[in-house]
Amino acid sequence: MFDKIKSLVAKAKDSIAEASDSNVLADVKVRFLGRNGEYTGILRGLKDASPEDRPTLGKLINEGRAQIEEMFKEKEAQLKAREQKLKLAAERIDVTLPAKSELGSIHPLTLVKNQIVDIFIGLGFEVKEGPEIETDLFNFQLLNIPEDHPARDMQDTFYVGNNLLLRTHTSPMQAHTMKSERPPIRILVPGKVYRSDDDATHSPIFNQIEGLVIDKGVSLSHLKGTLEIFAKSLFGEETKVRFRPSYFPFTEPSVEVDVSCAMCGGKGCSLCKGTGWIEILGAGVVNPQVLVNCGIDPEVYSGFAFGFGVDRIAMIKYGIPNIRALYENDVRFLKQYK
Ligand code: DAH
Repeated sequence: MFDKIKSLVAKAKDSIAEASDSNVLADVKVRFLGRNGEYTGILRGLKDASPEDRPTLGKLINEGRAQIEEMFKEKEAQLKAREQKLKLAAERIDVTLPAKSELGSIHPLTLVKNQIVDIFIGLGFEVKEGPEIETDLFNFQLLNIPEDHPARDMQDTFYVGNNLLLRTHTSPMQAHTMKSERPPIRILVPGKVYRSDDDATHSPIFNQIEGLVIDKGVSLSHLKGTLEIFAKSLFGEETKVRFRPSYFPFTEPSVEVDVSCAMCGGKGCSLCKGTGWIEILGAGVVNPQVLVNCGIDPEVYSGFAFGFGVDRIAMIKYGIPNIRALYENDVRFLKQYK
């Protein structure tokens, strides 16, 4: 029995030394000191020893146990320290590593809008925004588009209930401004507009910019001069501008404005469909009836107005063939416009 105690303590010592991590060590502990452990088993043999040996043996068994426990304690501390160190090393954050997140870029529509807004601010225009949900009165009637007017068909409308609709153009802000402010008025209104329209060059949501100038003695020549400066600033000094007669209910006379094709310089290409010209906007002298509708005396004041699609201008400027590219938010596309 004396030998057995000795050899078990030695065996425990070896097993403890071999344990490579805390889990293995915990198993070893159960194997020796657990309820059915090898060392615990010795105690049971004590009853078979002779009565005179029992006190010495009992003392030895206890000392052996204390020794084994001490060895476990030491090894546990050692393994714990090592494991903690490994864990910290694995979780270390390298703050010197370069950041991987990519910078975004400004959306081409915003880029073009900002450029246009800058040009008109330079000409003394004030930038305004208006509601996207409008009444029939402001979107149509005050702008001289009565209920049964054929021009309503040009703007396929989304109705949202009781006389309310998603504005089909930014022109209602002309009426809002004329009704609430006195001339001189010089405003530029960028904003989202909506039409039930969907193909390669039309999206149900798109962006327009509206311009309105009202003062004493304003004429078509002021409109021409303003739009020429605008076109040359946006598309380049060499750009030529052409005015064609047209029709809008809210202007009289009305014009459509073309610019010489920026891609071919006017020779004719796929972008301008061989004509050398690209239509960019509608404009005209404000119809006196619209002034009357909005409480401005047409005997004293006159003005001009214009409106165009920002999407269309961005597509022309950047040679984008399909309007959808502007709304899909594919970063590979957007990244090109830094
Ligand atoms: N509102 C017109 C449209 O959406 C564009 C327009 C044409 C605006 C002539 C104007 C204008 O202010 O004078 O098609």
